[in-house]
Amino acid sequence: LDNGLMRVPPMGWLAWERYRCDIDYVFTRPHTRLSEDGWRELGYVYVNIDDCWSSMKRDDNGRLQADPKDSQEASINWHATCMTGVSSWASTGTWAHTCGGYPGTTLDKIELDAQTFADWEVDMFKFDGCYSNATEQEQGYPLMSKALNATGRPIGYSCSWPAYQGGLPPKVNYTQLGEICNLWRNYGDIQDSWDSVLKIINWFFENQDVLVSAAGPGKWNDPDMLIAGDFGLSMEQSRSQMAIWAIMAAPLFMSNDLRTINSGARSILQNKIAISINQDPRGIPGRSILKEKSGIDVYWRPLSKNASALVFFSRRNDMPYRYQTTLSKLNYTTGSYQIYDVFTEKTMTLKDSTSFVVSVNPTGVVMWYVSAPAKRNIRQFYRGGRLQ
Ligand code: GLA
Repeated sequence: LDNGLMRVPPMGWLAWERYRCDIDYVFTRPHTRLSEDGWRELGYVYVNIDDCWSSMKRDDNGRLQADPKDSQEASINWHATCMTGVSSWASTGTWAHTCGGYPGTTLDKIELDAQTFADWEVDMFKFDGCYSNATEQEQGYPLMSKALNATGRPIGYSCSWPAYQGGLPPKVNYTQLGEICNLWRNYGDIQDSWDSVLKIINWFFENQDVLVSAAGPGKWNDPDMLIAGDFGLSMEQSRSQMAIWAIMAAPLFMSNDLRTINSGARSILQNKIAISINQDPRGIPGRSILKEKSGIDVYWRPLSKNASALVFFSRRNDMPYRYQTTLSKLNYTTGSYQIYDVFTEKTMTLKDSTSFVVSVNPTGVVMWYVSAPAKRNIRQFYRGGRLQ
């Protein structure tokens, strides 16, 4: 969506995966943690609530309203930074509710609700699709895009439309989505387990030919939240999620408890190079370029300044696997490259034809930032005097 927002994938915190309808997460004061623990400077700026925040009833003017029992504490959060309202709709007369059973947005309420969120100074809005049918979605998602735009407030617009239509053409029209939404959920909800993360990774890479071309500045595929710092992933698996989300140019919304997050998960989520790969201004998502019988997948993403990122991902469950290859086998063919290992912070120079080995831990990754090939800098050479 060309509204000037989210030219790189949005980053922040989102309540749903970790907290569901337990609205007491407001007491974890995620907005305070983001600004006091260094997250904000790294780009994690959105604080998003999800379902179950509202009162069960609209007010006398038909407007959505916060649940009075928690509005006092909650409103401090919601209004201080950002918020994701979640709504679904159905045509008037049918059950217009969010997945959690709270009031949703019927087609006739779209303008009113867009205006309510703008009045609340919301920065991002997620429009979910529970209890709506294909026709209602086809009308509702573009209408909401127009209504948000008409409020005059810049509001990032997250659409769950493709997730409700199987995520693939011909049912899903990614050209249209790119015109009306800033990001979209393509696939099912993430849960706190490696199985769930792996299922998402597999689906995105099985369908990468469709998905990679759908995304770019202002329009992103959303494989759902980061769950590092929760209960289901090992450190290796948390690194794998971070690395692959960075390769995919995915939005980075953490769903965890920032008060008690352990230092391992924190350092993965705060890894500056992984973040800068995710936030690369060219905004071209990466792809899987090799799937080895040994269980190693290689992912590649082109980056600005002629650089790129490589991820060696192990699907193995047995042992650290020593994967041997050369850069030229991975389509790097122009000489020597400077390599920076994103998680061990080691550097080295590698010639395209030199054989090397990476040791990839089970369900883990090795992630590299690969600089442009080291060539003689001609301009500097000239400025050096000889040919001036
Ligand atoms: C759907 C969405 C989730 C979350 C829940 C809330 O399942 O996909 O991301 O918003 O609804 O009920």
